Amino acid sequence: MHDETPSNGLDVIFSAEQIATRIGELAAEIHARDIKQLLVVAVLKGSFVFAADLIRAMHHAGMAPEVDFLTLSSYRKSKVSSGKVEILRDLDLGVDNRNVILVDDVLDSGRTLAFAKDLISARGAKSILTCVLLDKKLPRAVDVQADFCAFECPDEFVVGYGMDVAHRYRELPFVGRVVSGV
Ligand code: IMP
Ligand code: MG
Repeated sequence: MHDETPSNGLDVIFSAEQIATRIGELAAEIHARDIKQLLVVAVLKGSFVFAADLIRAMHHAGMAPEVDFLTLSSYRKSKVSSGKVEILRDLDLGVDNRNVILVDDVLDSGRTLAFAKDLISARGAKSILTCVLLDKKLPRAVDVQADFCAFECPDEFVVGYGMDVAHRYRELPFVGRVVSGV
């Protein structure tokens, strides 16, 4: 078992246990909306761990969503948003007349989620809700809000639980910050 203390260069911000508890609550919140024929769209890559846990929590809450994936890029190799969002890999499924929940890891400037919402809306979705693991609650570059959010996130760059810096740290079971080069 690896040590998950600051001594290995990482600080835990949200532990695996805290995340699991919140995801159970989120699934219950989503279930309470009683959305018919729900399609979960996970925005990759950063949301893959969150989405995987969320859809299983949705199952435990009694839901049976369909799932698809949309790979978008805004960050590239750097920690700073390029400001431009691109589709790296498109959805397989049509969203026409579907009730969609977009799942993303972090809501920061809002550009990624706004782009995904606009795309899915332009393709004729009946309804679109957004669900993020972390909301940085900063002034947004574009106006978009999370309908469901697991945690408010401090204004700093975070890694783990699917999130990376330069493709590293996605495997961590917690959300943390890098405090020294490891
Ligand atoms: P936005 O388009 O500025 O809202 O940025 C959202 C995207 O940038 C998220 O989907 C993440 O993939 C990435 N991102 C933003 N902040 C962080 C962070 O602190 N750690 C890792 N990825 C981040
Ligand atoms: Mg992302």
